Amino acid sequence: MANVKFFSGENIPLEMHKVRMVQRVFLKPIEERAAAIEEAGYNTFLLRNKDIFLDMLTDSGVNAMSENQYAAMLQADDSYAGSETFYRLEKVLQDMFNMEHFLPAHQGRACEHIIARLLVKPGSTAIMNYHFTTTKAHIVMMGGKVEEIITDEGLQISSDLPFKGDLDINKLKKLISEIDKDKIAFVRIEAGTNLVGGQPVSMQNMREVSKICRAEGLTLVYDASLLSDNLHFIRTRDPEFKDADLRDVTREIGTLMDVIYFSARKLGAARGGGILTSSNELFMKMREMIPLYEGFLTYGGMSVREMEAMAIGLQESLDPDVVSQTPIFVEVLCKELLSRGVPVVTPPGGLGCHVDARQFCSHLSQEEYPAGALAAAMYLASGVRGMERGTLSEQRNPDGSETLAHMELLRLAFPKRVFTLSQVKYVADRLTWLYENRELIGGLTFEEEPRVLRFFFGRLRTIGNWQEKIVQKFRADFGESL
Ligand code: F0G
Repeated sequence: MANVKFFSGENIPLEMHKVRMVQRVFLKPIEERAAAIEEAGYNTFLLRNKDIFLDMLTDSGVNAMSENQYAAMLQADDSYAGSETFYRLEKVLQDMFNMEHFLPAHQGRACEHIIARLLVKPGSTAIMNYHFTTTKAHIVMMGGKVEEIITDEGLQISSDLPFKGDLDINKLKKLISEIDKDKIAFVRIEAGTNLVGGQPVSMQNMREVSKICRAEGLTLVYDASLLSDNLHFIRTRDPEFKDADLRDVTREIGTLMDVIYFSARKLGAARGGGILTSSNELFMKMREMIPLYEGFLTYGGMSVREMEAMAIGLQESLDPDVVSQTPIFVEVLCKELLSRGVPVVTPPGGLGCHVDARQFCSHLSQEEYPAGALAAAMYLASGVRGMERGTLSEQRNPDGSETLAHMELLRLAFPKRVFTLSQVKYVADRLTWLYENRELIGGLTFEEEPRVLRFFFGRLRTIGNWQEKIVQKFRADFGESL
């Protein structure tokens, strides 16, 4: 997005790309949407694409690719071992992060699997600003546990703190003094903290955490999946980095970390992932696991075409006009919703607009999954698919009780460069209508509850058939409109 001043005085984000290939989408009548969400067990993950108008579930693997990415895919060097494609990608990543070693993996969680397998021992603790679902699942699977030390304000819905994803340095020092050093698996910084509203981490915080880890001999792991949004916020919210070259910022991040991993479904706008390190020892140990779990060392479970697209996409994700697209659309949607009284996480973060389902559905208890209910209601009202990020995304405790999430959020994600401003306005309009009729939304209860990562394929039903009331009210207010 470009920062262009309008003669009219309006503040309109201006896209710095043109759309040269499109996909037709359809908006089905609300009665058909009601049937589709019923069939999906009120879980938006189980909806079929053909029933969705705007897919705001995630940006993962569905960002728009550039013409240069597509062009590069045609030149891919396909071979089981020693492909030139791998060496091209390796070089881009080494330069980007200023790190020596790169290991390919098929996506972000595969990297988490390998890192957890190497560093987590039964009874050990991984300290981090905040967990991500798959990160925690891998740590727990290896017998470890997670301690979250995000700043207190990071867990508040409304704030004007520019870097709400920062780790609390005092909490970090306290934990290090309380836990035996050999029981600390690693310290992890997640760029653009996913589950609490895509909130960024400051350079200052990364520098401080790195200094402490180096002094204490602790391994510092950086999850760079949401780096591109985080880079935008470093450039626009931290005066030290005003107009900084994002390549320099990224290289500095590389010098602060021991291990960096990423989902290339997000960073690099392709599909895949990888791990970087400058430590020979960690590299040699992780390397052994790549052929076992991922694929040979020069493809790691990825298609060479995706690796070529990734190499270009990574370089493009250091262009300020490219990385600003999602954060600016998130800001537009958040501001529009706030002006109409709809509660959202502030300041607007990366990844998507995060609606506070706890306030939105204040008549529901957390055990009735307000964020899941809101996601289902939003699909009904608009054909827009968002994602629940709340108690449903947590795992039950061993005694069967719920782990109540810190935040109950409906995430409306922005795949990069996919939607237009008029579509953003449609989302705001339908969500506002839903807010005006929020008392119609009821709770959800499980019909089929998987034991691990239940949010992916669990099936639920509405408590009290509230979906029918939404359909009736929609027809009364919108007449024949879709
Ligand atoms: N770390 C973060 C911060 C993520 O956001 C994700 C994925 C992963 C790791 C795992 O990567 O999907 O390639 O295995 N986030 C997606 C999302 C799924 O929709 O937020 P993956």
